[in-house]
Amino acid sequence: MLDFQFYSPTEFVFGRGAEAQVGTLIRKHGGSKVLLHYGGGSAERSGLLGRVRQSLVAAGVAFVELGGVKPNPRDTLVYEGIGLCRHEQVDFLLPVGGGSVIDSAKAIAMGVPYEGDFWDFYSGKSPSAALPVGTVLTIAAAGSEGSGDTVITKEDGLLKRGAGSDLLRPRFSILDPELTCTLPPYQTACGITDIMAHVFERYFTPTTEVEITDRLCEAVLLTMLKEAPRVIADPGNVDARANILWAGTVAHTNLCGVGRAQDWNSHGIEHELSAKYDCAHGAGLAVIMPAWMTHCCGRAPARFAQMAERVFGVTPDPHDPAAVGREGIRRFRAFLARIGMPTTLAELGADPKDVPEMIAKLGLGEDGHMDGYVPLSPADVADIFRIAGEA
Ligand code: NZQ
Ligand code: ZN
Repeated sequence: MLDFQFYSPTEFVFGRGAEAQVGTLIRKHGGSKVLLHYGGGSAERSGLLGRVRQSLVAAGVAFVELGGVKPNPRDTLVYEGIGLCRHEQVDFLLPVGGGSVIDSAKAIAMGVPYEGDFWDFYSGKSPSAALPVGTVLTIAAAGSEGSGDTVITKEDGLLKRGAGSDLLRPRFSILDPELTCTLPPYQTACGITDIMAHVFERYFTPTTEVEITDRLCEAVLLTMLKEAPRVIADPGNVDARANILWAGTVAHTNLCGVGRAQDWNSHGIEHELSAKYDCAHGAGLAVIMPAWMTHCCGRAPARFAQMAERVFGVTPDPHDPAAVGREGIRRFRAFLARIGMPTTLAELGADPKDVPEMIAKLGLGEDGHMDGYVPLSPADVADIFRIAGEA
């Protein structure tokens, strides 16, 4: 295991009706004027935004509103939010929604105190200040409610890029499993896929002697295999929703990833897909992750065999770990198909003709490669796209 520091300052408030505490929590964490940030309408329709406004008024917290965050959130709305926050002297960001809304709020939080272009933070610069953020989460998926990460798409050129800083870890996050019951089955399944992918990106590591984090990862994956079919069959099952909701947070606070090198190449490749086709991030991962696994299993089979045995119940065969790994990958892909995810580029509506352009945007160059459990050259990424095209 590698040495590490783990900083997770977020106050998680988990429970039915917990959103009623939002005004009090903002006061507790020092906010007096809030930007209430939300998406395309689900939170209004469900009555959640009404309850949040009521709680803010009751706590004497002033607020202005900015809705309209799209999935795969855009830089254009971030610029609008930065201008609004400066004009209104906002001192606290309150995203109500999923990863897209939270990530947009985190971008605004960095942009308000910064004199330059906020996009600098998505091009490698680290922020030295950010407004505080507190979240009300409505979908178990991206894990942004517990992470220091944000992902934004620049409209000009469709560049989807990430930024990260401990300054962006939310001060509080409200997790009410009942709020996730209005999710359509497809979005539920996309979230489940993303949660599993966040674990796999950490699980596939060259670091040895990491039994504790291996076992934490496997616990989250086994939980998803058990709870996903329950919630797809019965979307109102709050007990299953609660387990998935907390799994989503545990998967991405980095509790499961400390002390080990991580991979993240499936995410890097997927971000090109969701930038190009505006597909759901989880759906893109359902296509790319098993293809990435298939490509890498032959080159470094040990961890794939471990995953297959411990998570998917494949019988061990010390003489042929790659075959064991391949059977685990087959079972993972079949699980994704069962919960309604696309598993090929065609099902996602992606055109193989666009693959060279997406690889070029990864910025690897002729001799470049992506570091990870298995380092990837541009030719390797092309092979992953080829596998993702196969039924
Ligand atoms: O916009 P509304 O109307 O709210 O609808 C949303 C949206 O259409 C809907 N939805 C959310 N909660 C709902 C609901 N519909 C009914 N009932 C509810 N309770 O679901 C749709 C998807 O929402 P979105 O916020 O886009 O989902 P998600 O949480 O999966 O976020 C995806 C974004 O997060 C990024 C992804 O790349 C993508 O841009 N990621 C962020 C990460 C982070 N910050 O740490 C890490 C991830 O790996 C990921 O890259
Ligand atoms: Zn993800």
